[in-house]
Amino acid sequence: MTGFTLHRLHASIGVEVRGIDLSAPMPKDTRRALAQAWLDHLILLFRDQDLTPKAQRAFCEQFGQLGGRLRKVEERPEGRDAENIMLVTNVRKNGVPIGSLPDGEMFFHHDKCYAAEPDWGTMLYALEVTRAGGHTLFANMYAAWETLSNDLKEKLHGRRVLQIYKYLPTERVDLADGIDKYDHQWQPIVITHPKSGRKALYVNELMSALIDGYDEDESRSIIKRLNSHVKAANIIYEHKWHRGDLMMWDNWCTMHARTDFPRNQTRMLRRYTIRGQKLSA
Ligand code: SIN
Repeated sequence: MTGFTLHRLHASIGVEVRGIDLSAPMPKDTRRALAQAWLDHLILLFRDQDLTPKAQRAFCEQFGQLGGRLRKVEERPEGRDAENIMLVTNVRKNGVPIGSLPDGEMFFHHDKCYAAEPDWGTMLYALEVTRAGGHTLFANMYAAWETLSNDLKEKLHGRRVLQIYKYLPTERVDLADGIDKYDHQWQPIVITHPKSGRKALYVNELMSALIDGYDEDESRSIIKRLNSHVKAANIIYEHKWHRGDLMMWDNWCTMHARTDFPRNQTRMLRRYTIRGQKLSA
């Protein structure tokens, strides 16, 4: 008896979980059943939640240790206290954003794929949402791999990809600029998910820059083909936020993006992550 029910968000990815108040203590059975649902469906949505930062953090800690920030303290808009928490918001004080990822569209990416131990999960809680746009799209990257053509699978076999990020939502690193000043990591281009044992494509539009064995132009062209494949494969769920939504996603087997939204509408979400581990092919 877990006390919740699951309702599909999309044929390929995601369920809404109904019947749980995330601010209340959670029995072990419920936690275990949620962890299984998360593994099976990749993203879980909980609506109408009323969560203080402490309650959101406590829920997150049911699944593992909190993930930290890689970005240097002096570059974090939220300041020194933001070791685990991130405010995703366009709210500004004296013209300066008080949080991260403030405005507009964001290309597809995997959170922290440019770190040695990419975060496993992200939990994003909506405090204030826009009337138009600012939706988050989630792609099933197991399905991306499974439905890939054999010629592309062949091209990727056994290769690694350079994941690199300059902390901008739609701007990729220009490799001629040198890579050392940006957070970066070589990762397997197809990973084996540490918990499910399934293969997932680990390439994205924003942060994947170079595939070993190919030059920069060839790499960009393959990455472009992979992204076109994901967008055409009917494996993406687009989430239109409501205040009180909490979405948790698995960063190892999904990638996500954000649609554009008007600058004059307030958007504020609170994010915690769950620490991950080194990923293998
Ligand atoms: C994120 O990439 O973590 C933020 C997504 C969003 O703002 O919808």
